[in-house]
Amino acid sequence: MAKAKNDKPAKPQKSDKSPLTPTASSQAIDIGISGGDRRNIAEGLSRFLSDSFTLYLKTHNFHWNITGPMFNSLHVMFETQYTEQWTALDETAERIRALGFNAPGSYAEFIRLSSIPEEPGLTEAPDWKEMVRQLVAGNEAVARTARKVLKTADEAGDDPTVDLMTQRLQTHEKYAWMLRSLLE
Ligand SMILES: [Fe+2]
Repeated sequence: MAKAKNDKPAKPQKSDKSPLTPTASSQAIDIGISGGDRRNIAEGLSRFLSDSFTLYLKTHNFHWNITGPMFNSLHVMFETQYTEQWTALDETAERIRALGFNAPGSYAEFIRLSSIPEEPGLTEAPDWKEMVRQLVAGNEAVARTARKVLKTADEAGDDPTVDLMTQRLQTHEKYAWMLRSLLE
C-alpha cells in the first residue's frame, strides 16, 4: 500500500471538478493522509454517495410502482435492496466528514454528481423487465464508482475507505447478479 506523498493542506476550491467544501477544521486534520489525498478520496466518495442515493431512490420508486405478474416477488425484493442501500448511505457520508469535507445531501448535488440517470417520473413508469434492466445497470454503475474510489483510497493508505468500498462492492455486485438472473 502506497504512503501519502505530501502533506499539503486541503484548500477550498470552487469548480465543478471540486464540488467539495472542507469542514472548518479540515486543515488541522492530521491522520497520516495528505490534504490532497483526503480531497481526492472525499470527492470520489461524494460521487459514490450520489450514485448510491440515486439508485436507492430508483429502487424505492420501483417498489412503489411495480405492476404485472412479478408484482409480489419484485415488490419484496426491491424493498430488501432499498432498505440495505438506505442504511449504507450514512456510513459513506460520515466517512466524507471524517476526511474533513462536507457531505452532499441535496437532490441538486446528487443529480449533478451521480452517473446514474434520474427516473423521469410516474408518467413514464417502465414495465417490470425494464425496471429490472435499469436496476442491473444502476448496481453496475455504483460498483464501477466504488472500484475507482477503492483504488484512490488504497494508493493513499486509507484502509477504512478501502474496507467500506469493498463491502459496498460485494453488495452491489450481488444485487446486479440477482437482478440479471431474472432476465435470463
Ligand atoms: Fe412498502
